Amino acid sequence: MDKFVIEESMGLFGRVRIGGSKNSVLPIIAATLLTDEECVINDVPELTDVLVMQELIEDLGGRTGWNAHEQLSIKVADIAKIEASYELCAKMRASFLVAGPILARCGEVRISLPGGCAIGSRPVDLHLKGLAALGAEISQEHGYVHARTKGLEGANIYLDFPSVGATENIMMAAALARGQTIIQNAAVEPEIVDLSNFLTSMGAVIRGSGTDTIRITGVKRLRGTNHTIIPDRIEAGTFMVAAAITNGEILLENVVTDHLKPAIAKMREAGITITESEDGLKIDARGISNRLPIDIKTLPYPGFPTDMQAQFLAFLATTPGTNIVTETVFENRFMHVPELIRMGADIKIDSRSAIIEGVEKLAGTNVKASDLRAGAALMLAGLAAAGTTQIHDICHIDRGYYKFDEKLRALGAKVYRENG
Ligand code: UD1
Repeated sequence: MDKFVIEESMGLFGRVRIGGSKNSVLPIIAATLLTDEECVINDVPELTDVLVMQELIEDLGGRTGWNAHEQLSIKVADIAKIEASYELCAKMRASFLVAGPILARCGEVRISLPGGCAIGSRPVDLHLKGLAALGAEISQEHGYVHARTKGLEGANIYLDFPSVGATENIMMAAALARGQTIIQNAAVEPEIVDLSNFLTSMGAVIRGSGTDTIRITGVKRLRGTNHTIIPDRIEAGTFMVAAAITNGEILLENVVTDHLKPAIAKMREAGITITESEDGLKIDARGISNRLPIDIKTLPYPGFPTDMQAQFLAFLATTPGTNIVTETVFENRFMHVPELIRMGADIKIDSRSAIIEGVEKLAGTNVKASDLRAGAALMLAGLAAAGTTQIHDICHIDRGYYKFDEKLRALGAKVYRENG
C-alpha cells in the first residue's frame, strides 16, 4: 500500500480550491436511484468513497459516466435487483444510504448491516425506525436487513438523536411516499440542505430542511436534474489547520463561510487571524508567537464538527498550555492520539475527553492512519514535526481527500506519495 512521506514544511503559503463535499455527494448519488431519468452532478470529487458509491449504482443496474472533470452523470432506468452487494457495502458505511431509495422505488430492499468501524459501533437503528414508521416491514437475518412494503405512507418520525444518515435515508424514502412525513429532531447539517435542494430540483416537495423539523410531501415520481455539490467544509477546515499549524498563510477558495463558523471561532480563539473577502477565506498564522490554548467539544451542526476533531487536536498538540477536546458524537474517536503521542505529543485520554499539553515541537516518525480524519490529522502533524514523518495505511486518507498531497505541495509542503 502507498504511504505519504512528509518533511517538516513550516510556512505554507498560497491559495487552494476546496472541492465538492464528500458527505453531500454520497447521499446525492444514492438519491439518483429515485428516478429513471438522468441526473448530472457537478463538482464531484473523484474520491475512493465516491467511486465505491458509483460502482454500487452500476451494480444495481444504473449507468454512470464522468462527462468531464468532476461532472458525473447517472441514469438508473431500472433498478435491476433489490439486493445491494455485500462487498461494496462492506467497503463503506455510507452505502446504507441506498436502502431508502431502493425501498421507495421497488417496494423492497435487502442490504447488509454495516459493520463497526474504527470510530465506534455506529448502529443504523434510527434509519430502520424511520423506514418502519413509513410502513416498511423490516426483518434482520444473517447480518442483512430485509425491508418490504406494499407502498410507503407518510408518518411523523421523531429521531432520538439528529442522525445525519437517518435523516437522509428517511427524506429520500419519504419523497416518494403517499402523504406527508414530518421528521422531528432532524439533523440540520449543510449536507442535509444540499440533499434537500437536489431532491426538490427532482420534483420533491420538502420544507424546513436546515431546521430540526422537516416536512416532506410525497410525490408519485421524480425527474432527472442538474445539481452542483456544496463545497466540502471538512476539507476547508483541514486546510485551515494546515495554515495554522505551519504558521503559514492560506487563502481558501470555494468555501461557504457560514458552514465553517465553529472552526473559524475556535481558530480565532487560538489567536489565528481569519478574514473573509470576495476571493475566499484567508487564514493567516504568520509571525504568531503566542497561540492560546482552547477547549473544543464536538456536537451536531452548528456545533463543532466531529469530522474536524482530529485535525484540530493535531494543531492543539503544538499549542502551548492545557487544551481539552471532548468528543460527544462518536464513542471511540481518539485513534489518532496514540500516534500523535508517538510523535512526541503530550496527551491524556480521560473517558470522552483528551487533555492536551501543547509541546514546542513534534518529531517525525512512522505512524498509521486508522481512519480518514485521523489520517488527515497525522498529515498535518507531519507538516509541523521535525524531520521525516511516514504515514502508512493512507487508503483511509484517499477516501475523503482528493489529491491531498498535490494540493499541499502547491502550498509549499514537502509531501510525497511513495509505493509500498
Ligand atoms: C455522517 C458523516 C460523518 C460524520 C457524521 C456526524 C456521511 C457520509 N458521513 O455520518 O462523516 O462524522 O455524520 O457528523 O455523511 N447513530 C445511532 N443510530 C443510528 C444512526 C446513528 O445510534 O441509526 C449514532 C452514531 O453511532 C453516532 C451518532 O449517532 O454516534 C451520529 O451518527 P450520524 O449522524 O448518523 O452519522 P453518519 O450519518 O453515519
